[in-house]
Amino acid sequence: MHPLESLFNPQSVAVIGASHHEGKIGNIVVHNIIVSGYKGKIYLINPKGGKILGLPVYKSIDDIPSVDVAVIVVPAKIAVEMADKVASKAKYIIVITSGFSEIGNIDMEQKLVESARKHGSRILGPNVFGIFSSKAPINATFGPAEIKKGNIGVISQSGALGIAMIGKAAEDNLGLSAIVSIGNKADLSEVEILSYLFQDELTKVIFMYIEGLENGHEFMEIVKKKPEEKKIIALKAGRSRAGARAVASHTGSLAGSDEIFDAAFRQAGILRADSLEDAFNWVATIAASPPPKGENVVIITNGGGLGVIAADACEKYGLKLYDDMEMLQKIFEDVMPEFGSYKNPVDLTGQAGAREYELALRRAFENDAIHAILALYCERGDAELESLMNTLIRVHKEYEGKKPALYALFGGEGTTKIVTEMKKDRIPAFYEVEDAVSSLHVLYKAYEKREEEEIEDIEMDDDAIRKIIDAAINEGRSRLLSHEAKEILLHAGLDVPPFRLAGNIDEAIEYANEIGYPVAMKVVSEDIIHKTDVGGVVLNVENDEEAIDAYELIMKNCHMHARRARIEGIEITKMLPPGTETIVGATTDASFGKVLMFGLGGIYVEVLKDVSFRIAPISKKEAEKMVREIDSYPILAGIRGEKRKDINAIIDSIYRIGILVNKFGEISELDINPLIVYEKGAKVVDARIMIKVKK
Ligand code: COA
Repeated sequence: MHPLESLFNPQSVAVIGASHHEGKIGNIVVHNIIVSGYKGKIYLINPKGGKILGLPVYKSIDDIPSVDVAVIVVPAKIAVEMADKVASKAKYIIVITSGFSEIGNIDMEQKLVESARKHGSRILGPNVFGIFSSKAPINATFGPAEIKKGNIGVISQSGALGIAMIGKAAEDNLGLSAIVSIGNKADLSEVEILSYLFQDELTKVIFMYIEGLENGHEFMEIVKKKPEEKKIIALKAGRSRAGARAVASHTGSLAGSDEIFDAAFRQAGILRADSLEDAFNWVATIAASPPPKGENVVIITNGGGLGVIAADACEKYGLKLYDDMEMLQKIFEDVMPEFGSYKNPVDLTGQAGAREYELALRRAFENDAIHAILALYCERGDAELESLMNTLIRVHKEYEGKKPALYALFGGEGTTKIVTEMKKDRIPAFYEVEDAVSSLHVLYKAYEKREEEEIEDIEMDDDAIRKIIDAAINEGRSRLLSHEAKEILLHAGLDVPPFRLAGNIDEAIEYANEIGYPVAMKVVSEDIIHKTDVGGVVLNVENDEEAIDAYELIMKNCHMHARRARIEGIEITKMLPPGTETIVGATTDASFGKVLMFGLGGIYVEVLKDVSFRIAPISKKEAEKMVREIDSYPILAGIRGEKRKDINAIIDSIYRIGILVNKFGEISELDINPLIVYEKGAKVVDARIMIKVKK
């Protein structure tokens, strides 16, 4: 039995602060519990005693036996005073009361948690609207009394929005398996609620409204355990950037919290909606549709224009329109007027009414070559909409569960009514074509096979890496020197061209000859971050004479522009031929931990911010997705006669960085900028690594 079973299916409930006054929250909760058909024991607590809604009231919590759930609806101060006693009686405490950490009363919230811990109880909230669970059934919320039962589980961080969602679900006739308000998440968070819903046989789709996650890492862990058949749609509020975070790397400055959420959701197979409207459409579609058995979509329409709009949208979302003309003709032969078109979108033409739609839908439902149906209807002035509506609903119900069928009806009052009625029958129907297509797309995405690929540990010289990091930590340095960063990458198995640190001119010449001209020469100093800005870099050094000049020039520039900088020496590296510059990086997110980034260098990253992110560590498959995901991917894949770049070498580099930063938690930020990619191989040119030094 899941540990949260008693919260979702309690045998007994106490309401602390049950109110005698109609309209008060403590009265509504009692009313909702009663009318929800709850069959367990109900204990109402109020010092005034008497009766509330026909139930006896206990004057003190001392007077009742232990319960599975206690709902607290007394003001915050009293809630804290009573917490210890309540915790001694209840396994789960739902604290509806507001006035805790959300307004800065952190200590009061902490006291609630301490009381619960002392007695081994758990807290939902505070600052929540309660819980509805269709399993019990119980509606212990102060939202609408009537909640329809169904297969959608909702977790909402916002109370007000959660209550509004109950209303909207009722309007769209969506049935809920549970709705849980998590509020301030003082104790129970979305992680545990998810783990319950994953094993709850009543829940098929989970809809989450999230404002922020404090425990991104645990969240990812639990979502990885999601059973294949459960689907999650999330609406995350706040698309804004991370704001003024102190970051020292490119990756860090690009990794806003929203980008990281996006990456985490993508990685976890969570479908992210941008608006409540989309979220509801998607949830309704998944809740009401069987999985598609193949990729062939057929559009049935009575208007060419509507068909074209849908076909365009299908292309945008990557849905495949079934295009076997011969088969299409065979399937729809007896439905189509002579001037109709078999080409998908199948155009039944403007004269099509209920009869034609019935036949066409039957053909589409019955033929196994068609895997999903998008039926569109454009209102005509003289059409008999009533019979069309009845037909669509009847035929859909007859074939329900056979294959996904979505409907979009466009026009005036008449078609609006049809859509509303179809929704009432839990049929995925929409007022806009685009909404229908995007919902079908999400349905396909929800059932995409997720290939779990093992993350294998790869050989790295751990001891050598540890030595470099420890040395810097001992010296209290958080920024590794260029050659140290490169050494780490070399030990991690990346392709780092030969480099040496020269402490004087003689060494510079010796190393340049050893590496082989042409070489690049760069100043190495912890105090100089932007080497080029101070004239600390000379490229294409061809011979000894030029090496001497370059050495002297760099030293002179640094003395002039960075007088106080401590100079460790000059790094001599092999001058590389031009290739495609990319950037691979890692940063640390407070919630999710290590985050990886990939993008093309130069303007692609600086101006277009065309980068992709993932939470580390990742599999090679995921690294490949990161590379393919950027808009400028065609540049790597080879365009206009350019040869394809060595994408496997990039994947390998990202993969290794993922393992490196995960293994060595002290690496807080890392940039390889650029990693130059060739037709064969990818080489590290410049690297920057920051480590976390404990103060
Ligand atoms: N034990 C049990 N009941 C007690 C009590 C005690 N020690 N002390 C007082 N009560 C009773 C009161 O007598 C009252 O009952 P009555 O109406 O029959 O007189 C009842 O508990 C409620 O107390 P009251 O002081 O009237 O509080 P309230 O109803 O005005 O407010 C809350 C209580 C919890 C609703 C309010 O503090 C609150 O937090 N509101 C916001 C809730 C919210 O929005 N949550 C987040 C949603 S997302």
